Amino acid sequence: QKTIQELSDKILNLKKERNAVILAHFYQRPEVQEVADFIGDSLGLSQQAANTEAEVIVFCGVHFMAESASILSPDKIVVLPDENACCPMADMVDAVQLDRKKREMPEATVVCYVNTSAEVKAECDIACTSANAVKVIASLPSGKPILFVPDKNLGHYIMSKTGREMTLWDGYCYTHDRLTPEDIIKSKEEHPEALLMVHPECRPEVIALADTVSSTAGMLRFARESNAREFIIGTETGILHPLCKQCPDKKFHIVSNKLVCPNMKKTTLDKVYRSLINLEPRVTVPEKIRERAISCLKRMLEIT
Ligand code: 13P
Ligand code: SF4
Repeated sequence: QKTIQELSDKILNLKKERNAVILAHFYQRPEVQEVADFIGDSLGLSQQAANTEAEVIVFCGVHFMAESASILSPDKIVVLPDENACCPMADMVDAVQLDRKKREMPEATVVCYVNTSAEVKAECDIACTSANAVKVIASLPSGKPILFVPDKNLGHYIMSKTGREMTLWDGYCYTHDRLTPEDIIKSKEEHPEALLMVHPECRPEVIALADTVSSTAGMLRFARESNAREFIIGTETGILHPLCKQCPDKKFHIVSNKLVCPNMKKTTLDKVYRSLINLEPRVTVPEKIRERAISCLKRMLEIT
């Protein structure tokens, strides 16, 4: 059994040998974030994946993120340290179901949250992340219906910010959707001085209680720039690591210990190490799907 330090050292050496870059989402385990070259939200990670010069991308996140990396950088080897790290919300819509819905709404602009499979992206006009969703929707021509998949909570939030009507898919993130107004009220009572930040994947009634609503990268920015000393956090617990690291003099309280995404936690340091040795498990996207899926990601990146 190797210690965290031994494993981290081995990973850092192997990373150089392999000409690999390690990308990690803010929800990853702290020790995994520590070996990463770049830690970010979905938007930042896809920008990094599109621009890296490395030959190998080790994606410490979930499957759709590694798939997006492979769509944007098809000549790179993309490795997902745990092949079962999926996003249950992304699996709430598939290409067959979407195709059926599109036939009911032939005029619609189809927008997908980046938390979708490559097959679904291939059926969509433009993608968005939580960081740019409002901007993406506001950029669409008015007068045309919009179909938004799969996150109904993010969809409600975008509608409230843009005033645009959208037809929403019935998808949601189990982790964020679990949070209730009662959880928030309890936490506010415990920390009356703290500002509340929540992720737009939370329910509308939770969002209504927030001081700020933003992507994970947006929360880090808000915490850095705010004069407040104390914050209640309504997103996955992994974010506490970068928050505490960036603002060591501020206090962060997670609303509830149920805010854990089990899929994000599947990536361990040991799996990162093994994936660098074997360059497996790999994530690839068939060319026929990739060439249709890339335009919706590129359109999103151009707008951002
Ligand atoms: P962001 O990091 O883009 O805010 O996304 C949150 C999330 O749930 C990713 O799966
Ligand atoms: Fe998917 Fe939610 Fe986990 Fe993000 S936190 S990967 S949206 S299940």
